Amino acid sequence: MLAGVGIAGCSESRGAQSSAASSAETSKSAASSSTSTSSAGPKADSLVVYFSHAGENYGVGYIEEGNTAVVAKMIAKKTGADLFEVVPAEAYPEGYNECCDVALAEQNENARPAFEGDIDIAPYKTIYLGYPIWWGDLPMCLYTFLEAHDWSGKAIRPFCTHAGSGLAGTVGSVQSTCTGADVGQGLSIAGTTAQNSRDEAQSAVEAWIG
Ligand SMILES: Cc1cc2nc3c(=O)[nH]c(=O)nc-3n(C[C@H](O)[C@H](O)[C@H](O)COP(=O)(O)O)c2cc1C
Repeated sequence: MLAGVGIAGCSESRGAQSSAASSAETSKSAASSSTSTSSAGPKADSLVVYFSHAGENYGVGYIEEGNTAVVAKMIAKKTGADLFEVVPAEAYPEGYNECCDVALAEQNENARPAFEGDIDIAPYKTIYLGYPIWWGDLPMCLYTFLEAHDWSGKAIRPFCTHAGSGLAGTVGSVQSTCTGADVGQGLSIAGTTAQNSRDEAQSAVEAWIG
């Protein structure tokens, strides 16, 4: 999957960029999803939107909470931001190899997998956008979410967890997908760091938030 970054078990390769475990990088029609907007309503002027995959993952074994979810919750706690998880309507397989296969097929088809529920992003000025790097890109369900919303005037702060690719050019992809948004410097944290070295991950989050 990763040129120069061996992800055990995934059988194919795509290019990706390398970066340190925690580093910064400056700087794709939506499928349907149900629209049960968060019933609680906005409590903050910032929002953390993330997708994360629990189950078997690279370098961390079977995890109950995804690596990106760990970081997303750190950011929400630190900033007081509301939190919204993008949950695919059809769950990805728990098994790592199976998930890799489904994710690659979606990417090759430029698919827009539907997600469950939704949130009205209009009240939020800043949106922290979190995702794992999948095949050197955003998981395709994130594109579904991004394309379903109006990003004009929003500040987006992208963050990812990964297994060696860093942000892999996703900041640019977010910028080109989210027309009218101001996409800031991204944060990348290795998935193993997010899962197993929480203090290190917390420090990286705090340094990034500023
Ligand atoms: C389908 C799939 C594809 C992946 N592709 C990449 C990749 O291209 N580059 C990389 O560094 N890590 C890749 N990984 C590893 C994940 O980015 C990494 O384990 C991340 O921390 C997972 O976050 P999560 O637990 O929030 O889903 C991939 C993992 C999966 C399951």
